Amino acid sequence: MSKILHGIAGALVALGAAGTGLALAVHAGHIYTGADQPHPPIVSKLLEWARERSIMRESEGITPPANLAEPERARRGAGNYAAMCAGCHLAAGQETSELRTALYPQPPNLVQAGKSSAIADPSRLAARQFWIIKYGIAASGMPAWSKSGMEDEAIWDLVAFLHVLPTLSTEKYRQIVAASDGHSHRGADTPHPPAAATRTRGKPDPHPNSHSHDKHSH
Ligand code: HEC
Repeated sequence: MSKILHGIAGALVALGAAGTGLALAVHAGHIYTGADQPHPPIVSKLLEWARERSIMRESEGITPPANLAEPERARRGAGNYAAMCAGCHLAAGQETSELRTALYPQPPNLVQAGKSSAIADPSRLAARQFWIIKYGIAASGMPAWSKSGMEDEAIWDLVAFLHVLPTLSTEKYRQIVAASDGHSHRGADTPHPPAAATRTRGKPDPHPNSHSHDKHSH
């Protein structure tokens, strides 16, 4: 019994020493927080573990709408994707973007079927994407779009678009973006008329990060 107590006391002392050491390193400014260098592998693994477990738990009760695969949804989602996501997650035919290159963690290229496609159950994959778009991923650059007024139906339209995106050629991408309703935070089933502040009718730029539109220079 006393051996066990000694073991527990030893472990507590070791934990305390490790905690104190970490606190001292933090206080002395030795934990680098610049976005130009990756986290040490152990920190990345820990963050990824926490993120995946949390998203799985939080998205458990979410059921995708029965009409998620209807082409109308992907068409509506295309305009929002081009306006709100392509800068970080790329458009068809786009190699990379300034924002994506400079961000850490780097936003996944959603034009290619990403790591979430490893989830075999399509409804779990859709629920995961919905949750991530709605609530974001803290300290990563992935915004919580619900906080800027995106309604659930418009988020499902984006999820529908993400499912067709890897299958689109550059030309088809341009066509579906041009055929969309532009940038809108409201889904088609929303009964009240769209607010001017959240809706910009017209054709969004399919390559919002393209340098040909501005005089920006490094
Ligand atoms: C400012 C950059 C930025 C913008 C804009 C952005 N995202 Fe993200 N997104 C990220 C980053 C960074 C990650 C990865 C976070 C991580 O690895 O922890 C991410 C992750 C995701 C993921 C999870 C992918 C996976 O396979 O794990 C989805 C889905 C996603 N974003 C969808 C969107 C959609 C849809 C939009 C537009 C409505 C959007 N994002 C806009 C930065 C962005």
